Amino acid sequence: MEVTEGTITVEVPEQPESGVGDDVFFNPRQELNRDITAAVLDVWRDRTGAQTYLDATAASGIRGVRAAASGWDATCCDHDERAVERCRENFARNELGGTAVHRDANAYMHESRFDVVDLDPFGTPIPFADSAFRSARELVCVTATDTAPLCGAHFESGVRSYSAVPHNTDFHPEMGLRVLLSALARTAARYDVGVTPVLSHVTRHYVRTYLELDHRATDANAAIDELGYVDHCEDCLYRTTSQGLIADPFDACPNCASARISTAGPLWLGPAHDADFVTAVRERVTEAFDTATRARRLLDTIATEIDTPTHYDQHRLSKQWSVSAIGMDEFLDRLEHAGFDASRAHYGGTTFKTDANVAQIERATVRT
Ligand SMILES: C[S@@+](CC[C@H](N)C(=O)[O-])C[C@H]1O[C@@H](n2cnc3c(N)ncnc32)[C@H](O)[C@@H]1O
Ligand SMILES: [Zn+2]
Repeated sequence: MEVTEGTITVEVPEQPESGVGDDVFFNPRQELNRDITAAVLDVWRDRTGAQTYLDATAASGIRGVRAAASGWDATCCDHDERAVERCRENFARNELGGTAVHRDANAYMHESRFDVVDLDPFGTPIPFADSAFRSARELVCVTATDTAPLCGAHFESGVRSYSAVPHNTDFHPEMGLRVLLSALARTAARYDVGVTPVLSHVTRHYVRTYLELDHRATDANAAIDELGYVDHCEDCLYRTTSQGLIADPFDACPNCASARISTAGPLWLGPAHDADFVTAVRERVTEAFDTATRARRLLDTIATEIDTPTHYDQHRLSKQWSVSAIGMDEFLDRLEHAGFDASRAHYGGTTFKTDANVAQIERATVRT
């Protein structure tokens, strides 16, 4: 079947359900992810003059073809011969130059350098992370679709893949993102590469992040300094963070004295986006994108989202305190009026972020 995204049309196999079956993979549900990538690449090239883009696990090549259509010197790599053939055909049918490579992505990245490397594999990207940080000069784009291991719902798998302890908390999207960022920062640091996340977004199905690279040992040290732990009480929902690689877990919750307090980490505790970059990406979302409205809404929320490494859900807290939920604008106003930072979180609905702790949120928002 033909699929049009942005200004290109590619041929992908007919699939009974997105991503199911053993033909060359295509998932229509990732269109928002791909549209945002197209906007990111435009901004990145404007800022740095970057030219070369590797779609390391390309399948139909739709990402590489879209990059080529906007002027990148694009390469699509896949270890499946049928996928590589699709990539070749898809470059040709759009009358675009572009290289299709039949190789194992790790082998290829170990011997080739690109300004931007994009990892969009099945499940965890970690098997490709070492070679991506060796190959990329400026930017690494990463999708992880193994959200259950990342957020601690599949605990052992998360520990194995990410060399971190995830916990299945109320803030599971944020947990997943920060487990992934931690593992990527530690991997990059092995090659004296420091990472700075310039944009990250999370849905139920995937985590997507864009990491700017700096190639000095001191940059790698700075990234490692962003790692630490989150302690979380399962009873009162209190949580707190501690910086560093040595965990110092609580025996009991400092807020309610419960012993049901768990420690997750090492997690990335630093910013997961750069607001100026996100705003610039939002400006490059065009009407040619089918997801333009959603993409702009998402990027607007991320641009204003504060940097705390966990988020809350007003409905969950209201239930906890046996009070009625109120409108989100009013709720956030009350927090700000009490002197705290507060913003919506891009996880939607009643999710929000604040630098207030759970007791402070209750005092600031619950009127008695
Ligand atoms: C999730 S699909 C890529 C989807 C595509 N980026 C898109 O947006 O539609 C993952 C692809 O990675 C390829 N792949 C898996 N392991 C690989 C490896 N070691 N080297 C190269 N390609 C690999 C698979 O053949 C598959 O085509
Ligand atoms: Zn507690």
